[in-house]
Amino acid sequence: EVLVKDLFAGEQIAEDVTVVLTGWVKTVRGSKRVGFIELSDGTTIKNAQIVMQSDLDNYDDLKKLPLSSTIRVEGTVVYTPDAKQPFEIHAQKIELVGASDNDYPLQKKKHSYEYLRTMAHLRPRTNTFYAVFRIRSLAAFAIHQYLQEHGFTYVNTPIITSSDSEGAGEMFRVTTLDMNDLPKTDDGKVDDSKDFFKKETNLTVSGQLPVESFALALRNVYTFGPTFRAENSHTSRHASEFWMIEPEMAFADLDDTIVVSEELLKYVVSYLLDHAKDELDFLNGAVDEHLLDRLHNTIDEKFARITYTQAIEELKKAPVKFDVPVSWGLDLQAEHERYLCEQVYKRPTFLTDYPREIKAFYMRDNDDGKTVAAADLLVPQIGELIGGSQREERQAQLAEKIKEYNLPPEEYAWYLELRKYGETVHSGFGIGFERLLMYVTGMENIRDVIPYPRTPGNAEF
Ligand code: 4AD
Ligand code: MG
Repeated sequence: EVLVKDLFAGEQIAEDVTVVLTGWVKTVRGSKRVGFIELSDGTTIKNAQIVMQSDLDNYDDLKKLPLSSTIRVEGTVVYTPDAKQPFEIHAQKIELVGASDNDYPLQKKKHSYEYLRTMAHLRPRTNTFYAVFRIRSLAAFAIHQYLQEHGFTYVNTPIITSSDSEGAGEMFRVTTLDMNDLPKTDDGKVDDSKDFFKKETNLTVSGQLPVESFALALRNVYTFGPTFRAENSHTSRHASEFWMIEPEMAFADLDDTIVVSEELLKYVVSYLLDHAKDELDFLNGAVDEHLLDRLHNTIDEKFARITYTQAIEELKKAPVKFDVPVSWGLDLQAEHERYLCEQVYKRPTFLTDYPREIKAFYMRDNDDGKTVAAADLLVPQIGELIGGSQREERQAQLAEKIKEYNLPPEEYAWYLELRKYGETVHSGFGIGFERLLMYVTGMENIRDVIPYPRTPGNAEF
């Protein structure tokens, strides 16, 4: 048995040796005398061309095989160096191993992404989704590889939590209580002490706070896991369940996170250019003709870096009219972010020193009293890809901020203790994995880079 990927990689097999391939019919066509099947065996985005002559005894049935039939082919490899395909398989025998129905919904024409989203279980069989999900796996590997090689320890933070890491209240409740018959306390509130964990629990919105404790012991650490946000955003870049990579470094300030996030992103992009060549070529042709240019620019150019205040000046000068008007203090929208990195700087752009009011409580106050040591990375096509900051390591200031943000002090006592027992400058950032995948595949909707997307009103499977 041979694999299609090995044949494309140039594995040499003598032309008189019989080989066996097993796979799925992608296309089939046949005349009276001769027919062709394009066969996928899942090991590469490319199909093997199977040539069948009418002397095969089941030739008439083979010609009419429904798409996605599972077949086993015996034949010989014939090299065709001058043709588009470097080899063909001349079939001696083709067996139908598993029949497919005639109403297979993925026909040869290009289907819309909306249509394909209605069949998340079948869409991996299309070339586009094959490429996207191969790249998803390779990108995850490259991220682990970069971080591990730079001394980062992988830490698994909890999925079910009892604290709100972002302090933004966008959490999915985890409960075993019967929602129609919730036990109540005397003052009418839900009695969480009667619940499974004897307190209120939620799905995590970020592993940052729990991983900070590990940074303060192991120095360089990271999480890479699913996160959940119950924000009612109906946009192409928000999902209710998404994956996040959160590196956290002790003895590191904001500049260090900027250096590491730029290096990490460039590493992933070069890794994909080296290891996902077929998939990227395919996507560049079928999805986004600027994809490869954008990826090469990403590794060739130093990213831009400006402050939030400079960005606001730039946006005010812009000759375009934004849907949301610009003034200092505005929480930038995708339209503003994209304008800056696409029109002004034309490359990934770090924005630093955001107004403290629009950022999370844990970010370190700058001396101006108005801004915090935050750095977001904005990239073309997407907008915000990375959110990072230097953390408030000063115990007194942090305690003050927890009060100012009206966060329940008992829930953050452990977080303050990290400062009580050794204030240490530390910083970190979070990369939205699906947004990274949109960037490196050219796909424009976050629902098309995650196997089973969850968005408001949608949780199929
Ligand atoms: O900017 P965010 O909210 O930052 C944090 O969660 C920090 N705790 C990260 C850290 O410093 N360790 O989220 C980080 C990134 C965003 O830049 C974005 O790429 C992605 O996560 N993200 C989402 N991706 C998809 N759907 C959503 N609803 C997202 N919300 C954030
Ligand atoms: Mg953010």
